[in-house]
Amino acid sequence: MSKKLFIETLGCAMNNRDSEHMIAELNAREGYVLTDDASVADLILINTCSVREKPVHKLFSELGVFNKLKKADAKIGVCGCTASHLGNEIIKKAPYVNFVLGARNVSKIGEIIHKDKAVEIEINYDESQFAFKDFRSSPYKAYINISIGCDKQCTFCIVPKTRGDEISIPTDLILTEVRRAVESGAREVFLLGQNVNNYGRRFSGEHEKVNFTELLRRVSAIEDLERIRFTSPHPLHMDDEFLEEFARNPKICKSMHMPLQSGSNAILKAMKRGYTKEWFLNRAAKLREMAPDVNISTDIIVAFPGESEEDFADTMDVLNKVRFEQVFSFKYSPRPMTEAEKMEEVDSEVGSERLHILQSRHDEILDELKEVRMGQIVEVYFEELRSDGYVAGRSDNNIMVKVKGSEELLGQIARVKIGEVNRTVAHGEIIA
Ligand code: 5AD
Ligand code: SF4
Repeated sequence: MSKKLFIETLGCAMNNRDSEHMIAELNAREGYVLTDDASVADLILINTCSVREKPVHKLFSELGVFNKLKKADAKIGVCGCTASHLGNEIIKKAPYVNFVLGARNVSKIGEIIHKDKAVEIEINYDESQFAFKDFRSSPYKAYINISIGCDKQCTFCIVPKTRGDEISIPTDLILTEVRRAVESGAREVFLLGQNVNNYGRRFSGEHEKVNFTELLRRVSAIEDLERIRFTSPHPLHMDDEFLEEFARNPKICKSMHMPLQSGSNAILKAMKRGYTKEWFLNRAAKLREMAPDVNISTDIIVAFPGESEEDFADTMDVLNKVRFEQVFSFKYSPRPMTEAEKMEEVDSEVGSERLHILQSRHDEILDELKEVRMGQIVEVYFEELRSDGYVAGRSDNNIMVKVKGSEELLGQIARVKIGEVNRTVAHGEIIA
């Protein structure tokens, strides 16, 4: 009987890809197969996120639950960003945890499972050229890392301390991985990094200097690849060359994540984001002008230390001007090892109120956008069978669309006329 692996993944797309890498390594080296039932697993992994405080609390409550329901001889491992930042603390607090593996040490999974009370969290361990075995949770699209770590110093963010310095993965390795994914049937690739459009700044060892725009050109030259997505780009590095390639290249899906964080110049400065409100508005306007179908998503933090009513009004002003199609909004959460940790916090109630104001206004914008969407014709790549007789997929510009249908549609790209729309999903009908 093969050994069973249960894995829970919290956090971002990078974490999901790390989980895929761990699944692949454990399967190829140790014969583990996946289970979605923790009580029958021989190994339970929690791949954690530490970007805000909440998921860290969640980790310890979940660990308690897994410890109770696990088989007597099953092992528990904590991986990912919280593993990087808490390290041995995790074993001190939850002594039944067998090992802790940091977000920058994923390739060591095959060895660490054989050790007890081991902690591997070397922050600048270089995995940029490690040849991971292959596992993909979706046959239709492939997540591919293009860089690891982050060189920015945003004062609110713990990530540089959990994922270390930024290193780009050599271009030839990325292209080989894209080709391999396409050969195995994926028509879409999702290029991943903390800061994708800073690609090519630093490699480990001597490698041809290729920037992100050039990488996009080379990836798009791969035959049979039809769609390219990427996350996350940084507004600071959205130069004209990049925006022009984005708009011009038909394989690049027209959805852009532009993490604003704040619309106030004073707060952007305190966050060390490196751009101004004016630069952000200029880039967003240029993007909409060059790629009129683009959908823009963003991340916004409210109540960063020192945020006044006027600062918050500037954020609302950007929201009203850019009219993002999607907003991920968060109340500031102080994180250990960050510069902002020591700054004086905004009153929590005020923060909650601002978050509510922002989200309500964005809901109104979404309702207005509904009207525009209805009747539009979009190309949808179907990738998910829903239980209610529907098949769902994303349009080129990232609208979740569902149509009545069955599994024959999976993996197909079809033209769809959008009918009824709600805030998160559009209903559509396939047209010839
Ligand atoms: N508090 C609240 N939100 C945060 N984010 C990152 N750090 C924090 C923090 N300390 C948000 C940012 C980032 C997204 C992934 O999480 O908006 O873009
Ligand atoms: Fe969470 Fe950031 Fe780590 Fe992703 S990189 S898992 S968002 S802390």
